[in-house]
Amino acid sequence: MSAMSVAIGGGKGGTGKSLIAVQLGILMAEMGLRVVLVDADLNGANLHTFFGLEDPQVSLGHVLSGERDIHDAVLPTGVRNLGLIAGLYQDMRELPGVHTVPDFGRELHALDAEITIWDVGSGSSPWQTRLFEQADMGVLVSAPQFQALERDYFFLRRVCLWKMSAQITTQPPMQGWLPMPWLTALRAQDPRYAHALRRDLRRKPVFCLVNGISQSTENHLEHEISSVVNRFFGLRTIPLGGLEFDDRLPLGVLVRRPIVLEYPDSRWVQQMRGIVDHLLTILAADEDPSFVPDSQPPVSAG
Ligand SMILES: Nc1ncnc2c1ncn2[C@@H]1O[C@H](COP(=O)(O)OP(=O)(O)O)[C@@H](O)[C@H]1O
Ligand SMILES: [Mg+2]
Repeated sequence: MSAMSVAIGGGKGGTGKSLIAVQLGILMAEMGLRVVLVDADLNGANLHTFFGLEDPQVSLGHVLSGERDIHDAVLPTGVRNLGLIAGLYQDMRELPGVHTVPDFGRELHALDAEITIWDVGSGSSPWQTRLFEQADMGVLVSAPQFQALERDYFFLRRVCLWKMSAQITTQPPMQGWLPMPWLTALRAQDPRYAHALRRDLRRKPVFCLVNGISQSTENHLEHEISSVVNRFFGLRTIPLGGLEFDDRLPLGVLVRRPIVLEYPDSRWVQQMRGIVDHLLTILAADEDPSFVPDSQPPVSAG
């Protein structure tokens, strides 16, 4: 059986992706699911520190360089049902090329687990945006600051290009490019081609999560982001939820104890539980999240 994969990504660093990936993994493992966390952040591997693992002996670097089989790279975390592939800890002579991502994605799906959670890190580099796109479910972690939303724009643009990469034959202009207005213009010239690209965009959903909100003013921002992303990027989006700002959270990292274990009754952890329930409900309702009911392609004008 193939493991279901959830990628955690986003344009800006420091929005809480690693924290969320770890807590998601712990909460799902607590529910009895067999979970493997994958630290795929090539620039800021840190998931091992959440479990107090210093200097992991086996890491993603060994897998990517072919020194270790991926199945032997899963480390125990001390949490029942939860394993970890630690991130690139030792220096690699050469970072993996983006062409290796599909094979790496297949290896991750073959792991002995029910769910794998991939922390793909921040930014919009080809490696991470392509990996984000390879997962069954992509969770965009944003924050209620303009800087985060601006970086997400670049991140999502790259994700869209990967989604369309099998069929796209024209490189869109990068200056100010947005998929939907571009496809609308394309539809006038070549409706079949535009429809095929639009289908590729909608094949898998992107889940929108906002972290660090202040209770009163930024409620339901994930709905607004979802609707904007849907309208301008043409992606199928699902608002996943909001997580409040909680100044105790960085302390959990300092004491090297995962938050859900340190502050199980905090509002943040309660909100995380709601998000896990939401994700698992979607998974149970739609075993294949890549399924999209869609209209028939338009009859070509030419
Ligand atoms: N909701 C929140 N409230 C307060 N601090 C948070 C919250 N979410 C994350 N943090 C803190 O922000 C910092 C960055 O989080 P991290 O998970 O490393 O971000 P990323 O992986 O996106 O770069 C950490 O110190 C973390 O504890
Ligand atoms: Mg991180």
